Amino acid sequence: MNKVSIFDTTLRDGEQSPGCTMSLNEKIEMALQLERLGVDVIEAGFAASSDEDFHAVKTIASALEHCTVASLCRAVKSDIDRSAEALKGARARTRCHVFLATSDIHMKYKLKMTREQVLDKTREMVAYAVPLFDEVQFSAEDATRSDRAFLIQVAQAAAAAGATIINLPDTVGYTSPGEMMELVRAVKNALPEGICIATHCHDDLGMGVANSLAAVKAGATQVECTINGIGERAGNAALEEIVMALKVRQDYYGAQVDTNTQQLYRTSKLLSTIIGVPVPPNKAIVGRNAFAHESGIHQHGVLAERSTYEIMRPEDIGISLNSMVLGKHSGRHAFEDRLNILGHHLTKEQLDIAFAEFKKLAEKKKTVNDRDIEALVRQWGREEKETYKLEGFVVNSGSYISSTACVRVNKEGTVIEKVSMGQGPIDAAFKAIDRITKLGVKLEAYTINAVTEGEDALGEVVVKLHKDGETYTGRGLSTDIFESSIKAYLNGINKIVG
Ligand code: KIV
Ligand code: ZN
Repeated sequence: MNKVSIFDTTLRDGEQSPGCTMSLNEKIEMALQLERLGVDVIEAGFAASSDEDFHAVKTIASALEHCTVASLCRAVKSDIDRSAEALKGARARTRCHVFLATSDIHMKYKLKMTREQVLDKTREMVAYAVPLFDEVQFSAEDATRSDRAFLIQVAQAAAAAGATIINLPDTVGYTSPGEMMELVRAVKNALPEGICIATHCHDDLGMGVANSLAAVKAGATQVECTINGIGERAGNAALEEIVMALKVRQDYYGAQVDTNTQQLYRTSKLLSTIIGVPVPPNKAIVGRNAFAHESGIHQHGVLAERSTYEIMRPEDIGISLNSMVLGKHSGRHAFEDRLNILGHHLTKEQLDIAFAEFKKLAEKKKTVNDRDIEALVRQWGREEKETYKLEGFVVNSGSYISSTACVRVNKEGTVIEKVSMGQGPIDAAFKAIDRITKLGVKLEAYTINAVTEGEDALGEVVVKLHKDGETYTGRGLSTDIFESSIKAYLNGINKIVG
């Protein structure tokens, strides 16, 4: 059995894509969850790209205990130095991820470098990085469109200079599984024993996962991927799909991955909540319908024998089958117990807030199940300063009247109330909040999702607010969609002023 390392780049390639930005606290929360998921390497960011990224890489490196932490670098000394500086306080292993393009098209138009120059730069920068990190990974950007012989020369040069991981990115999502297999075999055969061959496949033609799996079949021992497949353009290969394919089809791939698959669902949900990008219902593995059998024939088959139509079980990815678990008479102990079973270990302060919210919810909702509890924790387990706290609101709307809203908030002890008209009741409420805060924010996106089925379901609202070139994500949760919308808007505002 070949051990295949899972290299997660959600916080780097994923985070750099539009609409997927995360705050520092959110990145840390995500990194800790990725560690719980058991990925082998976390690419925490691109330390040299900005002071915020440097700080994020540094903070994540000091928070992680077991995962190797990587920082991306261009093949320039200042990038490598900045990454080394950011990873200095890491508790686990450190990795320099240095990349340089090897395709003629990139070398000619982007790098304006000759093949000789690219070869020299590879040798020089890998050798420069080796003493500064526990390990060095070299990525030949646009490898799948590179001249094969030249690519092999560069890979050999990087390995000779001390890189122990050679990555062959399909940067523009151009290749196909058959070609990827040939490429991996050719490069592997040309390198010394013990060098790890990795892939990093983008999904432009919808083949990111298939190409990554083909690479494993051909002998790659690291795959780079992201949760929910987020990333540049059409995204990267989805981690949850690769991991489950390798587990379910171990007979075919012969690969061993150490990921704890029971953390997959929660990791996907957490990311989706943090960035405010919903998971499509038909998304493989983590989509809402991934385990739903709708047709009578399928239902009949599954009832008679699960394996007729099920190749994996919801429990395998951590979807709890437990429905009604707690109610309004449940005490703090039972709530905490349930949280622990679900794998959430909150601090006392976080638990106080989460329990108070649970009690409020249990008053409104007959049954509080695991999905509700997960949503509550996602919402209330966070340490965010609440500068503006919602005290109350009234909305008025209908087909014959203009929508109006009155919102009352408490701003650090002062009660402020404003009224506004709007295109609809939610727009009116947001405008009333704008009149209170006078921040001039722009609403970029609004999404609402029901956490569970049923008429008393919790509505989870995510808004994206734009202010001074930055995007802030706000979240709100309530059985009343006006309340969840207002809470989400205020949550975004609190992040701006916090
Ligand atoms: O897509 C790509 O080629 C990359 C490299 C930096 C690995 O993201
Ligand atoms: Zn990429």
